[in-house]
Amino acid sequence: MDGFFCFVTLLSDKVINLVAQMKKQKILTKTNPIGIFDSGIGGLTVADAIHRLLPSETLIYFGDTAHLPYGDKAPESIQSYSIRIADYLLDQGCKMIVIACNTASSIAYEAVKKHVGSRATVIDVINPVVAEVSSMKKIKHIGVIGTRATIRSNAYAIRIEQQNPNLKVSSLATPLLAPMIEEGFFNNKISRTIINSYLSRPKIKKIDALILACTHYPLIKAEIIEYYKKNINIVDSADIVARFVRESLASKDLLNSGKARNHKFYISDYTKSFEQSTKIFFKGKLKLEHKNLWNDTH
Ligand code: DGL
Repeated sequence: MDGFFCFVTLLSDKVINLVAQMKKQKILTKTNPIGIFDSGIGGLTVADAIHRLLPSETLIYFGDTAHLPYGDKAPESIQSYSIRIADYLLDQGCKMIVIACNTASSIAYEAVKKHVGSRATVIDVINPVVAEVSSMKKIKHIGVIGTRATIRSNAYAIRIEQQNPNLKVSSLATPLLAPMIEEGFFNNKISRTIINSYLSRPKIKKIDALILACTHYPLIKAEIIEYYKKNINIVDSADIVARFVRESLASKDLLNSGKARNHKFYISDYTKSFEQSTKIFFKGKLKLEHKNLWNDTH
């Protein structure tokens, strides 16, 4: 009889755990939002591309301006910030989390993916671009420019090498560019001088394509094209990632066919200049809200 009671208690514990687990695991539907995050407002270039391609999707954007720039932070810090943001986006019911930052993608993608598990799909900005450039027939030597952390991680070179060992990759850290853009310096004399100084480095001299491995760089794409006199292919991730998001949602039958709800744009540190710069990064209507996840009084 004792054995029977033991068995029943064990069974009911198992059932209680299972129900608790099912409650925790929110059911994702087509109308759930897409979460997007970056260290700042540069990731809005990706949000903008997703919004243009998928206007029915509701977006929740988080820019971690309190910890900007990620490019000079230790890997452990970048992973810890990214996981905290992913948790917030999960709490908001996001069906997908797009890491719209090359630095976080190269350092924290695996950690975020593992942490999120089956609760949402996690997409980075590197894999879609690597898949695209690895299949480009005419390209033999490709350059990569990005933050110190992105270039140090060698994420692009390693992943391209795995997919197309014949493609030579030369990477160059360009740490001044993201803060320069974030401060509103582009399309002017100062930005041109800095861009020209980086792009003329011998390391990336003989390339026939260049990956803009930072979500801030679409803002200086015109100046980069001008530098190369349109002679090389400039690869920017925003549209490539947006197409990848669409394919991924479609494959899971999670594309929203109805109307988008109000988009939300959060930043962890608020300044007026962020508010002004956002207009350049995101073409739609946008109101920034202050939300510091690390000191959650807002
Ligand atoms: N937007 C980030 C990226 O794509 C760069 C900015 C930063 O260093 O935080 O890498």
